[in-house]
Amino acid sequence: MPVYVAGPPMAQDILKLASNENAWGCSPKAAAAYQQACGDLHRYPDSKYQVLRQALAERVQSPLDQIAVGAGSEQLITLLMSAYAGPGDEVLVSQYGFALLRIAARMGNAEVVLAPEAGLHTDVDALLAAVTERTRVVAIATPNNPTGTALSGAELRRLRSGMPDGVLLLLDLAYGEFGPQYALQTAHSMARERQDTVVLRTFSKAHGLAAARVGWAHASAELLAPVGRLRPPFPISQAGAAAALASLADRAWLSSSMGQLATQRETLREGLRALALPALPSHTNFLYVDFGSADAASRAGAFCAENGVLLRGLRMYGLDKALRATVGTGPESRRLLDLLTTWSQKQ
Ligand SMILES: Cc1ncc(COP(=O)(O)O)c(C=O)c1O
Repeated sequence: MPVYVAGPPMAQDILKLASNENAWGCSPKAAAAYQQACGDLHRYPDSKYQVLRQALAERVQSPLDQIAVGAGSEQLITLLMSAYAGPGDEVLVSQYGFALLRIAARMGNAEVVLAPEAGLHTDVDALLAAVTERTRVVAIATPNNPTGTALSGAELRRLRSGMPDGVLLLLDLAYGEFGPQYALQTAHSMARERQDTVVLRTFSKAHGLAAARVGWAHASAELLAPVGRLRPPFPISQAGAAAALASLADRAWLSSSMGQLATQRETLREGLRALALPALPSHTNFLYVDFGSADAASRAGAFCAENGVLLRGLRMYGLDKALRATVGTGPESRRLLDLLTTWSQKQ
């Protein structure tokens, strides 16, 4: 089973652009709610997380029992996989789809089937062609990590309608806020309309609350029932749940942080292009940067690391000629571009 390699811990003077965290931090209202919860550190959280789930349910116009929460979306992915796929079953994922999807499938001893991609883009036809009688789950991250590419709402509908009814479609929308909003809405409509489609979201990326570990799932109550039985009683701290609730309500902060991110992403992409380092168009808060060869990518990654800037290598995906760079603030992007300029002058 492949091991999921998490980003390195933060250290002083190190600029970590390796974990797709939000460079603009989190909503001040979320931070205040987190701090306020310290007054109740001696209390267990509400194990139903009723208030947070109610707010999420309202956001996606669904009843409360169609929302589950977990310790990050990673926990929900793992629980769903272990509930729906086991030995002898196949879990279908896209060739360069988010690694955790296949790792979670392997944890339950299901067989992982990869559908080939065209141009680093999830290919709906290839996925449908790979469905067999043993397929139990089709798991897609859109927008996808590490490529940053996304399926449209129409592609999501086409994937679902081409799949047999009853086969679980797991849509990991960890970067949903950054991607096409119509696709996000389509995904939630599908979760409302059907018994066999689940949408996973997180507060770790756009909301900037990665340390709080809050993820959520939207699906029919029947589909989510095994998650309720398998999950630990208190997966999220009360402070984390309070921060997520406050962040959800602070729409102004989210939209301003999304705006800054989009501007910086395009500026960084432009700066990289000027260095002959093309990056894929991205629907996320990171860029997939093509260094032309595995050797160049590995040397550039090492040079940046030696100088305090951490990027993510993609060898575990077989994408050795690229590195993944989280979009930072203006000064952070400048630091990265200056380093890559020095590196490319040495080539
Ligand atoms: C596509 C995708 N899904 C899910 C996750 C898990 O996020 P979390 O467990 O913090 O919600 C990540 C984290 O990087 C991700 O990139």
